[in-house]
Amino acid sequence: MDFMLSNEQRMLQKLAAQFAENELEPMAAELDETHCFPVENFQKMARLGFTGIGVPREYGGVGGGAVEEVLVVTEFAKKCMSSAATLSIHLIVPHLLTQFGTEEQKRTYLPRITAGGEVAAFALTEPNAGSDAGSAKTTAIFDSETNEYVLNGTKCFITGGSRASVLVIFALTQPAKGLKGMSAILVERGTPGFSVGKVENKMGLRGSETAELIFEDCRVPACNLVGKEGQGFKIAMQALDGARIGTGAQAVGIAEGAIDLSVKYMHERVQFGKPIAALQGLQWYIADMATKTEAAKWLVYRAACLHDAGAPFTKEAAMCKLNASENARFVTNLALQIHGGYGYMKDYPLERMYRDAKLTEIYEGTSEIHKVVISRAVLGK
Ligand code: CAA
Repeated sequence: MDFMLSNEQRMLQKLAAQFAENELEPMAAELDETHCFPVENFQKMARLGFTGIGVPREYGGVGGGAVEEVLVVTEFAKKCMSSAATLSIHLIVPHLLTQFGTEEQKRTYLPRITAGGEVAAFALTEPNAGSDAGSAKTTAIFDSETNEYVLNGTKCFITGGSRASVLVIFALTQPAKGLKGMSAILVERGTPGFSVGKVENKMGLRGSETAELIFEDCRVPACNLVGKEGQGFKIAMQALDGARIGTGAQAVGIAEGAIDLSVKYMHERVQFGKPIAALQGLQWYIADMATKTEAAKWLVYRAACLHDAGAPFTKEAAMCKLNASENARFVTNLALQIHGGYGYMKDYPLERMYRDAKLTEIYEGTSEIHKVVISRAVLGK
């Protein structure tokens, strides 16, 4: 067992930290205020190779694996959670295509969504199929005369959906079979019959656009099928297993960012004639925040290591996401409390971080769904 990062990993972590401080932090409040997708940030991430993490170099990626993704996403989330989430959720698609795509799909799409800086989106959720993802109703019926799939239905809450040029849509190719008839289909922006609907007005993570996608007799060639027909639900679940490690990393990052701000504030803020860092009540807050965040971080690292070793990691991914997201809410709440009235004001980043942290308990599977996944694994069901 080795708890040390390699030299290369430490260098990557440092590069990500510098990028986050110089490029992401200065824009974080504005993105939140204007509810705007971080276009410039995303392009800069692509130029530095961050959008190609976990993708082989021959397809435009930079190699590495889940550990590298965790290191980068954590550093980003310390400074701008929206940018961290944008990257982390975007990466689901290149990882999914690397694992399940045909050689032609990899050569066509991966360079565009890695080094090329085009946004990708993963579309599973529907208005009546959130936690119960297997009850999705969007269809993709094969037309043998034209050798195309014809998509009809609506997806919702799709991160990056309004900006994406390449999307993986989960749709029923054999509706009578339910989730066993679900398949993964690639759709490109601009395909006739595909349009973007409502872009949501969210409580937090406002720098990451969340959109409705509408498919009305949207035709795509048969070669856009990813994996085999009927494999879609399992592809979605496997992709989400990996993505949940990324969400865990977001949650650890935002907690670490909130601790950093709290420590600085406690040394600077003077009350009762001394810095509030001298008050034992607040010292104990910091001790709890730091200890729980350290534990959350190591669960995330552990899930990432299992992923990269090719070992089963579904339970560990669910555990790390559940624990890190609950901790992010706990830590940002105490950090805001330490900042008192100033923490509640928009002049300080804490209120944004508090709102952003909440979403980590909901997206990529709610805490309750993770308890289902974990308890099934522990009970052997
Ligand atoms: N890996 C591989 N296969 C899996 C799997 C996994 N992690 N989990 C389940 N499967 C397989 C099962 O083995 C089963 O296959 P067999 O019948 O051949 O054995 C099949 O999938 C069905 O599994 P279940 O019976 O367990 O399915 P279920 O209907 O009970 O659902 C669930 C399980 C865990 C609750 C699942 O529905 C789930 O994860 N729900 C949450 C959905 C979610 O996270 N949504 C977030 C969307 S993305 C997002 O939020 C942000 C964004 O923009 C990207």
